[in-house]
Amino acid sequence: MRVLGIETSCDETAIAIYDGEKGLLSHVLYSQIPLHADYGGVVPELASRDHVKKTLPLIKQAIEQAGLNASDIDGVAYTAGPGLAGALLVGATIGRSLAYAWQKPALAVHHMEGHLLAPMLEDNPPAFPFLALLVSGGHTQLVGVEGIGRYQLLGESIDDAAGEAFDKTAKLMGLSYPGGPLLAKLALSGDSKKYKFPRPMTDRPGLDFSFSGLKTSAANVIAKEGSTEQVQADIAASFQQAVVDTLVIKCERALEQTGYQRLVIAGGVSANLSLREQLAVLLKQRGGEVYYPRKEFCTDNGAMIAYAGYQRLQAGQQQDLTIGVTPRWPM
Ligand code: KG4
Ligand code: ZN
Repeated sequence: MRVLGIETSCDETAIAIYDGEKGLLSHVLYSQIPLHADYGGVVPELASRDHVKKTLPLIKQAIEQAGLNASDIDGVAYTAGPGLAGALLVGATIGRSLAYAWQKPALAVHHMEGHLLAPMLEDNPPAFPFLALLVSGGHTQLVGVEGIGRYQLLGESIDDAAGEAFDKTAKLMGLSYPGGPLLAKLALSGDSKKYKFPRPMTDRPGLDFSFSGLKTSAANVIAKEGSTEQVQADIAASFQQAVVDTLVIKCERALEQTGYQRLVIAGGVSANLSLREQLAVLLKQRGGEVYYPRKEFCTDNGAMIAYAGYQRLQAGQQQDLTIGVTPRWPM
């Protein structure tokens, strides 16, 4: 069984083909980052228009790269939410229509389920059950995962997502969009103990997060300390350490509560090396293991959607003829 995956929920047009026996056959991605950079963030209308231009040529490219014909595809999966409504509609309309034309099942995939399952594409995939820390630009969630489709939300951010906090703080520091990876790079030459940022909501029980206050404290320090290169690096390192500490504390609490021995980190912020290292230390201390996708599959990609769609197809699920998207969609 081969599933074509289409991802257009935000600012990447990404397509992949996953084969149940051979694994990933192809994956292609076009990033709109340069298109939105001047605006300091994603402009939804520009995103939709660009997905319209890029999706079909990329599908053609992915099929060619896999050495296949359209008739070799057994199902078409697309991200149906959460995400930007217009952007989602492009992938959903194209995906649903192609499935109809090819007379194959269509599979509406939840974007965060895609992220959550992305480590399954690696050589040493985690066994169930596991705890998942989903950290992206739009979400920060702790999820108990018993199996495919068996997810329990244990905690989430009550305001900004971790990636959003990285991006907003980076913007305050004058870095370009998306600032998360740039801030992380700057942090490499900074002192993480130089500035004291809060570790929000760690002093009370529970598994929820809050990152908007952290961004405000960063804004105060930036205004007070100026912006020499070293000050910027120290702020970046101290800010990053506060986010990482907060995530580590909550993961430890969730592992304690659930008794799980495996932790999956996924979503854009799971590309952060400091987060990976410090969670690896935590899991080592507890005799468990941490899993994450390769860097290109931490951020949005088509492979995770093709894989999640394949699992849905195996489970006998498929989308009826309605073309619908769910911009806000709890998992
Ligand atoms: O998963 P993703 O590509 O898109 C969403 O579904 O939101 O995540 C993008 C987010 C952005 O906020 C970006 O700044 C952040 O992931 N990010 C990072 C790093 N790489 C990407 N944040 C911190 N450190 C990184 N190395
Ligand atoms: Zn994402």
